[in-house]
Amino acid sequence: MKIEPFIKNSGERRLSGAKSARETSMLELESLFKLSYPMCIICSKKAGRFNGCIVNTVFQIVPEPPMVAVSVNRQCLTHEYIADSKVFTVSILSQKTPMSFIGRFGFRSGRDIDKFKRIKYEIGRTGVPIILDNTAGFLEAEVTEAIDVETHTLFIGKIIACVTLDDGKIPMTYTYYRDVKGGRTPRTAATYIKKKTKPEQGAKEMKKYKCIVCGYIYDPAVGDPDNDVEAGTAFEDVPDDWVCPDCGAGKNEFEPTEN
Ligand SMILES: Cc1cc2nc3c(=O)[nH]c(=O)nc-3n(C[C@H](O)[C@H](O)[C@H](O)COP(=O)(O)O)c2cc1C
Repeated sequence: MKIEPFIKNSGERRLSGAKSARETSMLELESLFKLSYPMCIICSKKAGRFNGCIVNTVFQIVPEPPMVAVSVNRQCLTHEYIADSKVFTVSILSQKTPMSFIGRFGFRSGRDIDKFKRIKYEIGRTGVPIILDNTAGFLEAEVTEAIDVETHTLFIGKIIACVTLDDGKIPMTYTYYRDVKGGRTPRTAATYIKKKTKPEQGAKEMKKYKCIVCGYIYDPAVGDPDNDVEAGTAFEDVPDDWVCPDCGAGKNEFEPTEN
């Protein structure tokens, strides 16, 4: 299929900086952080079991009938559940959602933990949970199409119910999550961008590491004695199955602090 260019060339225009668009590297991935997204939990079901995960890729595609799409990584258990049941719910999170809540649904897999333990939810028309904690509103959808896109599937769904639960709750955007709450995304997220790391210099020192989910700092001088990590243990030597004592994020969700 031949796709015509979307914008006809109407003469050279310069970017506000010195470079023209052609002169820039054109792959400054951080510029994608300027896009805005909603922070949501999608849930689905399979063989009488429920699961859900954080997504920031829900968007409305057409008004009539109202339809939405969501991009889900094939590694996620939630993907397996949506592919099986062909239904999903979307709970739209409020700005006040605690980081530990996002950590549980966005950095842990339902393969390892029961995400619904001590969480308020109700079962919707699709037979799938709608999360009630920290939720401004929700929608339920039936999948009409699934499109493979590299590592992810774009599930397109027809909305069969959508409700505002609390007008007073301000929905959280991904920008707010990143810039105000200091949150990050795991490698499975559709909008994950690899952090640029500075080359190591000089001798290896024992660095402090920060949990990118909740901000907990692992200090090697202190260790985590409550969880059998002795004081004086370098982060690299902490066991691989150790998790953040505050939010439960895995070791791969930590990054070295600046100093
Ligand atoms: C802010 C944020 C945004 C995310 N967005 C997406 C997304 O759009 N699609 C996706 O597949 N995963 C996304 N994730 C990652 C999943 O929530 C994560 O991989 C989760 O652990 C999957 O859980 P599951 O295996 O129980 O389904 C996001 C995570 C965070 C923290």
